Amino acid sequence: MSGLELIDVSKSYGATPVLERVSLSVLPREFIAFLGPSGSGKSTLLRIIAGLETADSGEVWLDGERIDTRSPGARGIAMVFQHYALYPHMTVRENMAFGLRNAGVARDEITRRIAQAADILEIAEQLDKKPGQMSGGQRQRVAIGRAIIKQPRLFLLDEPLSNLDAALRGRTRVELAQLRTRVDAALIMVTHDQAEAMTLADRIVILDDCCIQQVGTPAEVYARPANAFVARFVGSPPMAMLPATIAGEEAGRVCVRLAEGTVLATAVPAGELVAGTEVEVGLRPEHVRLAAPGEAGLAAQVELVERLGDRTFLYAKLEGGAEIIALEPGFGTVRPGDAVTLAIDAPCAHVFTASGAAHHPEPRA
Ligand SMILES: Nc1ncnc2c1ncn2[C@@H]1O[C@H](COP(=O)(O)OP(=O)(O)O)[C@@H](O)[C@H]1O
Ligand SMILES: [Mg+2]
Repeated sequence: MSGLELIDVSKSYGATPVLERVSLSVLPREFIAFLGPSGSGKSTLLRIIAGLETADSGEVWLDGERIDTRSPGARGIAMVFQHYALYPHMTVRENMAFGLRNAGVARDEITRRIAQAADILEIAEQLDKKPGQMSGGQRQRVAIGRAIIKQPRLFLLDEPLSNLDAALRGRTRVELAQLRTRVDAALIMVTHDQAEAMTLADRIVILDDCCIQQVGTPAEVYARPANAFVARFVGSPPMAMLPATIAGEEAGRVCVRLAEGTVLATAVPAGELVAGTEVEVGLRPEHVRLAAPGEAGLAAQVELVERLGDRTFLYAKLEGGAEIIALEPGFGTVRPGDAVTLAIDAPCAHVFTASGAAHHPEPRA
């Protein structure tokens, strides 16, 4: 079995559990993002894979070999840290060569690999500089270069972009996307930034509460979040969650009554959702808009207006206090304090039960 395999990995610090029976399969050459709030165990899981931390129980396999019993240097893994971890007194070239020289790689081979990595990362002119003479973005590239020349079977990157300013982060994100097409290895990146995870990863692993909450493509976790936590966590601004009660069903699909009284006919299969069950109705901003003049909808009071140029988000409150977010194209004219009517795309609504379990709409025919 090639690729990375985590089997029932558990870890506690003292009495505090951090990971509980985490299992995951990563395909060769796959780009995986570990996404989760701060403290959700992302770095711990990465460090267990790298061998910088020991799991309490569980196994780690890479390309059909058990590696959690091996030392970090013997795992075929290269790790890039948030804080670069470059040696300040060495040049870029020396920083890159250091690990390989220690591993006994021949001088010619080291030179060849450095040239190749410098080429991929466009840092050929920087090789004789010291880290202190470089910008944060350049230093991060050196740290990535040092990982590339190890020719690992797996790259691990822990928040590689979080020390960069916004413009550089955007550019380095594009470079990371290009990099993965040029290296023959799987790549796991830890991030708390969902935009990074959504744009870069083949699949996203969402961690919270010591467990994997969902593994899926960016499209899957966005359109079909496994539970209320994922629904709230993925998407910016987030999905609104409106308290509601199941009112009944129509052609096998549930109708929900919002707290302020309106009944919405969803496209969620009725299944075991029986009338009277208290639920939350999840609505993405793109499924809520200003009603046309005379069009029916929900009365709301706008509290905050976020104009992004090409689109505008309206943060509003319904009667009864539920918060909802609407999306308007362009700049819009609505102002905070305005009373508006919001039209809901009810067939796009999700339903979450008290346990957090998700019920998704059936795709439109
Ligand atoms: N060496 C350690 N000793 C004690 N607690 C730790 C240690 N490393 C991490 N933790 C705790 O484990 C939890 C997960 O940490 P971490 O994996 O760094 O989270 P993340 O990377 O998702 O922000 C946090 O509550 C953190 O405080
Ligand atoms: Mg971390």
